[in-house]
Amino acid sequence: MSDAYKNQKKNWEQNVDKTLEKFPERKESFETSSGIPIHGLYEPANPDEKYVENIGFPGHYPYTRGIQPTMYRSRHWTMRQYAGFGSAKETNERFRYLLDQGQTGLSVAFDLPTQIGYDSDDPMADGEVGKVGVAIDSLKDMEQLFDRIPLDKVSTSMTINAPASILLAMYIAVGEKQGVEKEKLTGTIQNDILKEYIARGTYIYPPEASMKIITDIFSYCQENLPKFNTISISGYHIREAGATAVQEVAFTLANGMAYVDAALRAGLQIDQFAPRLAFFFNAHNQFFEEAAKYRAARRMWAKIMREKYEAEDPKSWKMRFHTQTGGSTLTAQQPDNNVVRVTVQALSAILGGTQSLHTNSRDEALALPTEDSARIALRTQQILAHESGVSDTVDPLAGSYYVEALTDEIEEKANDYISKIDEFGGAVKAVEAGYMQKEIHQTAYETQKDIEKGEEIIVGVNEFTIDEEVEPELLRMNEELEKNQIKSTQNVREERNNTEVNETLSKLKKAVQTNGNIMPFIVEAVKVYATVGEIANVLRDEFGEYTAM
Ligand code: 3HC
Repeated sequence: MSDAYKNQKKNWEQNVDKTLEKFPERKESFETSSGIPIHGLYEPANPDEKYVENIGFPGHYPYTRGIQPTMYRSRHWTMRQYAGFGSAKETNERFRYLLDQGQTGLSVAFDLPTQIGYDSDDPMADGEVGKVGVAIDSLKDMEQLFDRIPLDKVSTSMTINAPASILLAMYIAVGEKQGVEKEKLTGTIQNDILKEYIARGTYIYPPEASMKIITDIFSYCQENLPKFNTISISGYHIREAGATAVQEVAFTLANGMAYVDAALRAGLQIDQFAPRLAFFFNAHNQFFEEAAKYRAARRMWAKIMREKYEAEDPKSWKMRFHTQTGGSTLTAQQPDNNVVRVTVQALSAILGGTQSLHTNSRDEALALPTEDSARIALRTQQILAHESGVSDTVDPLAGSYYVEALTDEIEEKANDYISKIDEFGGAVKAVEAGYMQKEIHQTAYETQKDIEKGEEIIVGVNEFTIDEEVEPELLRMNEELEKNQIKSTQNVREERNNTEVNETLSKLKKAVQTNGNIMPFIVEAVKVYATVGEIANVLRDEFGEYTAM
């Protein structure tokens, strides 16, 4: 055993002791059903140079085996189900139901008008209010969304990008109303505009303005919300658009580097903002490739941050990520089969060391999930966590000839893509040139052809079908929702002090024109009940809107 290995191991053991003080192991002892003790970590009998360099110990650079020394032995991943539909009141009820059922983190799905910066009474919102997520127009809705949910006790993820600054400001304002100062707030805003240009589409402003808003958020949170994750650099939607696992890793990390470059150009210090960057990946089919994908991505990011950016704080090197099982793999046919797909996909994320996980519901190829389906999706995680034993030792797939080879291959191929993106001058230029979009569309086309030729079997769809599909009970939306939401927002406009609203909006306008940090002005505006649309429109007037080529 080399001295390097012995030192690494000693370091790991010291870190385990330190970690256990704050995060003791979940159980007194860990054993199999036959009474065989389960160790926290299994090591190679003869660790070679490659192991020391490229795999190492959990909680240690390059973090291939996980970012924490004890991982799930101390704390399971956060069970964080993406939820939101209809009015703030309905979504609040679903949030409280899921928390009562044992979910350990919140994740807000906003409707499209909110995501694209329109109020529910804007003509652009017609027919979309509360459809794919919760309708949030003003602080009044946000207060209802978190009614009876203590923001000092729960972390909240918000899937919001172009208007992330506005919803974050509302979250801060709700916290203050609950008596929770902003320094205590924990959670994440997705705030990843590049993947919106590439794959998801809920962008508003041109790239340069969007990057300025994002770095304003980084800077503001550094000072005011030290426990809040400022971005969730997402591969999920890139994968959903048809990318391969390698493309998902490469394009996500390339976007991550673009955000780091933008923050450095804005004068921020790498070890100040980098520890609060977070990631978000897909858990797709091909179990072993998915588990290897997370291990490769974690190792790549550690090397990028320490070697390319020379970050010195280990917190800057650690890739912390959320995973959602692949929505695009769900079938409308025989929807109960989706529970099995989601279980296998969730297992790949767990064995890949995810920090937070959403498991899709069986009916989501047909509609937003019913309460029953959402509960089964959560129970899937709880069964994997508490019955399967897979979380009882760290990174159990390590040392597998297949998984280690896949991890290396994925890293190598993803780096090849990153080199091509560097030739464009980085991700922003590559997005503007349509490079990543073209690569994804090509892959999606080839995949679809394989399915149609029957070369790729989708159970229940092109093989093992049944004649009579019976549509399950689906979540029905309240028809009156749009009308009620519009009425509620118009009441807010009538009841608030419109002089104050106009004052705060003109201060915001001035901040944009003088290139100041816009966050403090947005916080003031939401506190006097300026709406998402009104604030987003001030930014539209100043920045303009982006229209893809
Ligand atoms: N040992 C030591 N410390 C540990 C530990 C362990 N084993 N486990 C956890 N901890 C600590 C962590 O260090 C952390 O403390 P810190 O904040 O002081 O560092 C604390 O416990 C909480 O743990 P995590 O940060 O690991 O877990 P969270 O759940 O709080 O955060 C995250 C996870 C990935 C960092 C965060 O960014 C997150 O929650 N992301 C979620 C994003 C999300 O839900 N997105 C949904 C998008 S839906 C979508 O876009 C799809 C739609 O479009 C279809």
